[in-house]
Order: sequence, then C-alpha cells, then structure tokens
Amino acid sequence: MIYSHKTISCGELRSSHVGQEVVLNGWVQRRRDHGGLIFVDLRDRSGLVQVVFNAEIDAEAFTKAEELRSEYVIAVKGKVALRPEGTINSALPTGTVEVYATVLEILNEAKTPPIYINDNLDVDETLRLKYRYLDLRRPIMQRNLMLRHRVAKTVRDFLDENGFLEIETPMLTKSTPEGARDFLVPSRVNPGKFFALPQSPQIFKQLLMVSGYERYFQIVRCFRDEDLRADRQPEFTQIDLETSFIDRDTLLSLMEAMMARVFKECLGIELELPFPRMEYSEAMRRFGSDKPDTRFGLELNDLSEVFAESAFKVFATAVATGGMVVGLTVPGCANYTRSQLDELSNLAVIFGAKGLAYVALTNDGPKSPIAKFLSESELQQLVEKSNAKTGDLILLIADKRSVAQTAMGQIRLEFGKRLKLIPDNQFNFLWVINFPLLEFDELEQRFVAVHHPFTSPLPEDLSLLDTAPGEVRANAYDLVLNGVELGGGSMRIFQRSIQEKMFKLLGFSDEEAYEKFGFLMDAFEYGTPPHGGIAFGLDRMVMLLSGSSSIRDVIAFPKTTSAMCLMTGAPSEVAPRQLRELSIKTID
Ligand code: AMO
Ligand code: AMP
Repeated sequence: MIYSHKTISCGELRSSHVGQEVVLNGWVQRRRDHGGLIFVDLRDRSGLVQVVFNAEIDAEAFTKAEELRSEYVIAVKGKVALRPEGTINSALPTGTVEVYATVLEILNEAKTPPIYINDNLDVDETLRLKYRYLDLRRPIMQRNLMLRHRVAKTVRDFLDENGFLEIETPMLTKSTPEGARDFLVPSRVNPGKFFALPQSPQIFKQLLMVSGYERYFQIVRCFRDEDLRADRQPEFTQIDLETSFIDRDTLLSLMEAMMARVFKECLGIELELPFPRMEYSEAMRRFGSDKPDTRFGLELNDLSEVFAESAFKVFATAVATGGMVVGLTVPGCANYTRSQLDELSNLAVIFGAKGLAYVALTNDGPKSPIAKFLSESELQQLVEKSNAKTGDLILLIADKRSVAQTAMGQIRLEFGKRLKLIPDNQFNFLWVINFPLLEFDELEQRFVAVHHPFTSPLPEDLSLLDTAPGEVRANAYDLVLNGVELGGGSMRIFQRSIQEKMFKLLGFSDEEAYEKFGFLMDAFEYGTPPHGGIAFGLDRMVMLLSGSSSIRDVIAFPKTTSAMCLMTGAPSEVAPRQLRELSIKTID
C-alpha cells in the first residue's frame, strides 16, 4: 500500500523537485499511449501532473497502466524529471516536469462519467446538479470551494482578532411575521405546533447584546422560502455579526477593514479604503437602484420639469400626482429599429413600467411616437436636460417615482451590458446608507419594514414617526459590490417604547406584538446597550470573488431555482407513518 504514504500533491510539483522520489494519489484525467510509453495526466484537487509509464523503466507498472481509464483512482510512486526539450507545457504550472512511474496501484475503477471532468464543460446545469459529486471534481469548482474556505477562514481570523466571539444560535426557532416566508418544522412532541428554521439569527444576536457579549459573530446557515434566482438560495450562509457600544461609522470602517483583509488574503488585491457612501435617495435618483452598479455611468435624468405642462397627458398627470418622468440617454442608438424598440418597451413593462416612450435623435431630426404631443420648446428642453446629441436615443418612463426609477434602472443595466460599458476585473464597493425605514405595501394596505422591524430610525427623523412615517429614514446600510447587495445591517432600536411604536406602525395590535416578540421587548427592559450589526451573504461574496455568475457555483450542494436537490431528490414524499407521528394530514 503506497497510497497512505503520499509525499506531495500533483499540482505542487515544480522543477525544484527534479530527482526526488514522490508518491502521488489522484484520478486519471487522460491516458495517451505512445508505443512503449504511456502518459497519464494525474489530477488531484491541487492540479494536474504528467506521469510517464515506460516499459523499460518498469515493465509491471507499464502493463498495469494499460488498464487505466479516465477517473480511475490510483497511487503512483516515481521519480520527478525535467521534461525533454520541446515537450514543456507552459499552460500547466507543473508543465516543466513529469514523473517516471516505478509503482502503480489501481485503487478503484470508474465507469465513464456522464459529464467530462474539465472546465470547458458545455452541458446542461441539470446534469451537473444530478451528478454533483462529479461536477465538484472539476478544477473550477474545486477552486471555488477552496476560495470559499479561505474567505471564511480569513473572516473568522479577522473577527477573532477584533474581539468577536462566535456563538451558535438555534436552528429550530419561532416563526415570526415579517420578512420572507418561513420553512416550518413540525414538532412531534407538541402536536399541531411548529418550529421555523431561522431566516437569520437577528433576534438572538440582539439578545446576546442584552446578555453582555458585546461582539458576536457567526458564519451561519439561514433559510428563506422565497422565489429563487441566480443570487438567491433557500438556504444560504451569512457572515452575521452584532456589536454593542458602537456607532455606525466605526462599524462601517471595521467592515471595510474586514473586506480589505479578505481581498488581500484571498485574491492578493489591495482595496482602496474607505468605500464611497451614497444616500439611498441619491442611488435611486441617479441609478434607479438601491444597489447601483457604479462601474459605469449612463445615469438617469429627472425630466419631470420638462413635461409638467405637457400635452402628453400620461406625462403631465404623472408629474402632477407626485410621480415623475425619468429619462435615459442611450448614446448612438437613434437608429434602433421598430422591433428593437418594441422589445425594449416589453422589457420596461416586465420591469414594472406602464410603457416606454422614446425620442430618437436621428440625422433626419427627432423621431418619436409622442412627437405630436411635444412642443418645440419641450423638445429643446428635453434634449438639453438629457445631454443628448444627434445619434442618441432618449428613453422615457412616467410613473410613481419608485416605479419609474426602478424600471429605468433595469433598462440602464441592460444597456450597460449591451453597450459593453461594464469593465471586467474591477471591484466597485459602495455603501448605500439611510434607507427609508418603512414602505407602504399596496397589497396589504399597511407599512412594512424596508430592512426589518428592529432597525432604528435616524435620530433626526424620530419626530416624523408620528406625523409622516413614510418619510422616516432608517439608520440602515447596505454594502454593494458591482451592483450586487453583499450585505445589509442597521443600528437597532434598543428602547421598548420605540420598538412598540414600530410594531404599531407595522399594523400589529399590542397583543399580537407581545405574542410574537414579547420576549425581545421584555429583554429591552433589563439594561440593553445601544447596538448594531450587519450580515453579509458569504455565497454572494465568494461568487463575486471567484468571478462566478451564480451562487450555485460556490455552494457544494445547491438547490435548483425550483428549490430541489437533483442529486438526492429532496424534497420528497415521506411515509404515512411519519406524517401520523407528526399529527399531519396532507390535503390534495
Ligand atoms: P438581509 O436580509 O439583508 O439582512 O441579509 C443579509 C445578506 O444575506 C444575503 N442573502 C442571501 N443570499 C443568498 N440567498 C438568499 N436567499 C439571501 N437572502 C439574503 C445577502 C444579504 O445582503 N439580519 C439581517 C442583517 C442585520 O440587520 O444585521 C439580515 O438578514 O447578501
Ligand atoms: P399611448 O398613448 O398609450 O399609445 O402611448 C404612446 C407612447 O407612450 C407609447 O410608446 C407608450 O409605450 C408610451 N407610454 C405610455 N405610458 C407610458 C408611461 N407611463 N411612461 C412612458 N411611456 C409611456
């Protein structure tokens, strides 16, 4: 048995090892026969190295090597040698050397895998997820998971050095309203009662502050039953933390230092600190997003003034009723065809707008379906305020401010991609601060918390809580990287009276608030320090660090967008006996 005496990993071999005898373990990437020579690319998680079986060096090993197929698991003993002139492979880090095998152990055979184990894989993700254990053999996936480990380790070290304690919080907890939908777990010993899996450890980490732990963190799994996307999973991992006796700016700089450490240690990149900050209202006004991608310009224009008196009633009415007309000047696209424009208009509707109007500044003058409504001076003002020139296409959306800005913000992103305005290899961090505290939910006809109900209002807006709750700003912040929300947090409410007022604003009766959150409000009365915190999405962080386009590529065993695990077949039906034990009846 040589396999338990491995001396080095495949990808580590360099010319400095020439002459050494080594023992390697790994998987056969490829076997090539050249008469009396067999070349095997041997792979482990560190990389590939070429192993040579030469009948003249060791006949027994050579004969055994003839049996090798892709993905066989082997152990090899041999001598490291420089590759002969002309056979150096500069694409491989180990490309200057090869190993002359003297012993070969075949540890296990392998069927032909249903997917190729290489990075230029062009197969359906469904197949990759079904055979995830093979997909995870691919070097790119192994690099992603190794990076994920490195990020988590760096974060742990940093937080430990800064006085944070890692404390676990329950996975079986109480279902509370607000936020996303909960995953419920029936309690067998308490028939008819349910636990919820935590959406985040929010309340527990605040209680740890009440308990005097001062600085808490946890790299923790969170569960949310929401519609999934490329950057959303039903279970995901947060770097969650909370601190007492800290103000916002101190916390934000500490978090910047943490990010800088992660980028330095994991990618060798020096980040420029501090990160820029932008008010939520400015982010919406300029970029139509609360997580603006600031790697490119193409900013929105507020054109309400131009159309306040317009004969185009859709625009004039939007402005008169407190809404706006927002514009986007797309350079060089005045010659868009009818069908291209229709397609854009459909996009705008998907993004929530009622329509999309345009004015194309063609060589033959302005062209627009709303031209007949526009006076000469309106047109002139429009072009001026839009900073547009001949050849440009001006897009216009009229609606409630948030709807118009958000829809145009999405169109901006679309053109960022189409016009290739987004530079690669750039990390643009941005703090978005001072979010609104509350947002009116038209469907439920009540206010909902923009962040969560424990977020403190900005002190200077406290008095507005009674008079104009919709205008109160929160002491909340998000960290945005290249247009992705990496993390979010806030300074918290820590007085019972304000927390009670908050629940009232959210439409809870005193009884409901007490039933759901009484333990927290009681705790606030036993000496609660001022505190605040933040949580980062570890999956999203590693996705951006690794240049992946989906968080599925940085999670070992993720779910599909329809919340299934294609490998295990979860979720699945259970035996009637199990349901009976839980006092659960299904309805068809
Ligand atoms: P929030 O809900 O903003 O805040 O979540 C924090 C961060 O977690 C990540 N995230 C997700 N990642 C993958 N899939 C999901 N479904 C998903 N949902 C959220 C995002 C997000 O920025 N308790 C508060 C934090 C606090 O106030 O301290 C919280 O959970 O990157
Ligand atoms: P209509 O008068 O409905 O035929 O609309 C004329 C043009 O204005 C069409 O190109 C519509 O897409 C566009 N339009 C309609 N409503 C809006 C709106 N709220 N914002 C921007 N454009 C709109």
